[in-house]
Amino acid sequence: MSILISNQQNPTWWQNAIGYQIYPKSFFDSNHDGIGDIQGIISKMPYIKSLGVNFVWLSPFFASPNIDNGYDVSDYQAIDPQYGTLDDIFEMIDQFHQNNIRVVFDLVINHTSDQHHWFKEAKKSVDNPYHDFYIWRKPVNGSVPNNWVSLFGGSAWEYNPATKDYYYHLFAKQQPDLNWENPKVHQAVAKIIDWWAERGVDGFRLDAISHLKKNQRFKDVTNQEDAMNNVSGIDQLLANLSTDFKRNHLMTVGEAGGVPVEQAKRWVDSKKGYFDMIFQFDHVSFWEKFTVGKVDVAKLRVALTRWQNGLDNNGWNALFLENHDLPRAVSYFGNDQKFRSQSATALAMMYFLMKGTPFIYQGQELGMTNVDFNDINQFRDLDSQRFYREELTKGASPEETLVKLRDNARTPMQWNDQPNGGFSDHQPWISSNPNARYINVANEVKQPDSVLNFYRQLIHLRLKDPILLNGQYQLIETHDHQSFVYQREENHVGYLVITNLSDQPATVTISDRYQNRQLVLTNTTEKQQSSTMALKPWAAYLYKYERN
Ligand code: NOJ
Repeated sequence: MSILISNQQNPTWWQNAIGYQIYPKSFFDSNHDGIGDIQGIISKMPYIKSLGVNFVWLSPFFASPNIDNGYDVSDYQAIDPQYGTLDDIFEMIDQFHQNNIRVVFDLVINHTSDQHHWFKEAKKSVDNPYHDFYIWRKPVNGSVPNNWVSLFGGSAWEYNPATKDYYYHLFAKQQPDLNWENPKVHQAVAKIIDWWAERGVDGFRLDAISHLKKNQRFKDVTNQEDAMNNVSGIDQLLANLSTDFKRNHLMTVGEAGGVPVEQAKRWVDSKKGYFDMIFQFDHVSFWEKFTVGKVDVAKLRVALTRWQNGLDNNGWNALFLENHDLPRAVSYFGNDQKFRSQSATALAMMYFLMKGTPFIYQGQELGMTNVDFNDINQFRDLDSQRFYREELTKGASPEETLVKLRDNARTPMQWNDQPNGGFSDHQPWISSNPNARYINVANEVKQPDSVLNFYRQLIHLRLKDPILLNGQYQLIETHDHQSFVYQREENHVGYLVITNLSDQPATVTISDRYQNRQLVLTNTTEKQQSSTMALKPWAAYLYKYERN
């Protein structure tokens, strides 16, 4: 569609690029109904452009009953009316392209909505041509076929009286899993991919892609992962699927929790890989397992360094701290009270300058925090509700549980100090964070040392200097539980990243090899004179050095 962007001539454009994730429901409401929409995104184009990012990834806006906020698609080629129309989408793609920003959509193909016409047909009878689009098993002893559970709680099986069998759903029961053993499923999805590619989409984020293959023995499991995560044989499915992306010159980033780096090398191999990048979750421990406020920096260093080294020269990392499924980074990794802006910027520098493609989740660039709701009824997400109930039954307190919920990251984008943070003049679908009064775009644009302006500098630096694109990553071991120090170097010239990721002062001694260095960026006013550096809580320094 757009003539301005050619992915074919520049197949690795995504390596020297920064991604910005938009959660459409909470970005900007242009039609006064309290729900973000596509025209809202278009109207904020100047802001997105001003960040200096190169592509956007949009969470789903397809036709959907919204049981899981659009991750339950009922028609992949239609738009949920609450967001706008297909024409709005085409206009949006075009506007992004005119601003030289590529567009990545979210492709949810592990499952559909139960309102998708494939499923409506499938459940009618076992002879229906769509029956085999989904995963069905006969009852065993008058009950569920096995002990497999859903990630959203309870059994993964739901009985369908019309066919007298059970269908499988890894997520909510309204999200039946597609049967990827059936080649017709792949054919149908391939058509959807081609259709969007013809309309100018530059790539896809592939939802829940490590779950595509299910264990075909359908026996009870001791470890639930054995039923549905990264099951042996998935490589063949992914290799087949990847042909659709390659044919269309599409960039891909797969959501692939639980795929070890040794295997990920195969998934993102620069020649034979299935995807360009994957999101791994070792450093954020997927969803609920996370213990807020207790990040062990030593473990964080190990996890991120494993991926940096593991994919070096043979793959590419997707770098991120936040997305719509995690609480806000400044609240769980950082300190959103006493050190909000310092911890937001120190965390930013730490992950952003590693080797790979950095992603920013909307509002992260402002240091947006978890929301201070004290009642579960203020949260909307079905899985947050379920998780809350379960944790309380296990004895957890409401306070410690509420801060872990993923809705914390889904409150409206904070544009200014007006009601609802300027997101909408109507009561939003989920309340705005009261701290929008002072944490907002309008404020941060004006303050030279804001989190926003720090991110802008990081973006500029990352895209400008090839050393930050190609330079070899090397961890500088500090043997402590506070600091994260590493270098990115190429031909004896490099960057030294020094961050204190804790509420306490830290001391870091750097070797003589960095003697010849210059400060490029910092989030503090403290100057460092010697090689033994006294770091204030959440201090971050970026130096450029030349080795003798
Ligand atoms: C991962 C998505 O990011 C999450 O929001 C969703 O609930 C599940 N996949 C199911 O699609």
